[in-house]
Amino acid sequence: MLRDKMLAVMEEVNSEAAERRELVQTIALALLSGSNLFILGAPGQAKSFVVNEFRKRITGAKQFERLLSRQTDEEALFGRLDLASLIPGAVPAQVLEQDGTYRMLRQELAQAAEDFRADSADNAAATRMQGLTEKLEQYRKGLSLLHGGTPMTITAGKIPDAHICFLDEIFSAPVAARQ
Ligand SMILES: Nc1ncnc2c1ncn2[C@@H]1O[C@H](COP(=O)(O)OP(=O)(O)OP(=O)(O)O)[C@@H](O)[C@H]1O
Ligand SMILES: [Mg+2]
Repeated sequence: MLRDKMLAVMEEVNSEAAERRELVQTIALALLSGSNLFILGAPGQAKSFVVNEFRKRITGAKQFERLLSRQTDEEALFGRLDLASLIPGAVPAQVLEQDGTYRMLRQELAQAAEDFRADSADNAAATRMQGLTEKLEQYRKGLSLLHGGTPMTITAGKIPDAHICFLDEIFSAPVAARQ
């Protein structure tokens, strides 16, 4: 049960850090309620330590962590603009990744290419490749008509894509990245 798991993690973290029960409890509350938590305190008080001890015991969640510095920019945290989303006729990468039909057609094409590579006399594979290429092209064109021209951000592996996010040393980041 979630309650037992959480209590067990809290107990473990408490056994690693001395006198940080309140912080450990607050982290648990933030995680359970999906709230943000801002931790402010004097240096060397085990703030980062406790967060990291807690985080590493949480499995099955996408985590994002970054030690912020002057060099940290918005793109490093939130993702960068997908240039393909601005090019007429192109399809944003995110749209392609999330489209089940497109992924399936690509997979079939990859398989046909693999079969053809294994045996270049395999005419059936060559015909399948041709048919699938045409289908994919057509489908891509359709997607570009539906989704082209909308600026999109590639967020894979960045904050918008994460379940748990730990930004350490937030005051070191430039103002633009903090907002
Ligand atoms: N109460 C504590 N229990 C166990 N270890 C501690 C405790 N306080 C400090 N430490 C030790 O001190 C180290 C430094 O702490 P940590 O880097 O987490 O501090 P911090 O509060 O994040 O400081 P800063 O504000 O400078 O980032 C920890 O890695 C840990 O080994
Ligand atoms: Mg710290």
